[in-house]
Amino acid sequence: MIAIGSDHGGYALKQELMAHLDKRGLAYRDYGTYSEASCDYPVYAKAVAQAVASGECERGILICGTGIGVSITANKVPGIRAAVCGDCFTAKATREHNDANVLCMGARVVGAGLALMIADTFLDTAFSNDERHIRRISMIE
Ligand code: RB5
Repeated sequence: MIAIGSDHGGYALKQELMAHLDKRGLAYRDYGTYSEASCDYPVYAKAVAQAVASGECERGILICGTGIGVSITANKVPGIRAAVCGDCFTAKATREHNDANVLCMGARVVGAGLALMIADTFLDTAFSNDERHIRRISMIE
């Protein structure tokens, strides 16, 4: 199960992402926001982060205008490793090296085509399980 969430700035892109996940047959839960009305991104970032940290969902995807506000919020939740990605290389590397469990994107930064490729890369890439990366992640904790 994938937890997804956005603020008003990421709402339209989140709709495209959900349609894409539907096409791929990937299950997700939408933690809001549910309209383009102005709202506070920490509410939705915290809900998605808690869903992932609790084990209710395996991964999370958060979208705001820049990806920054949701990532700062999500990373406050113990056990969350949220990464802002604006390209596929970073999305792949953060899965392989950081075992990132929440992807953050900026809807005012990346277009929908790129955002969907970044999401696919993030969801389809496994953690490397290399000893050095395990050690470094445990140092973060
Ligand atoms: C909302 O205007 C904007 O501040 C928000 O989407 C995000 O970019 C914050 O980091």
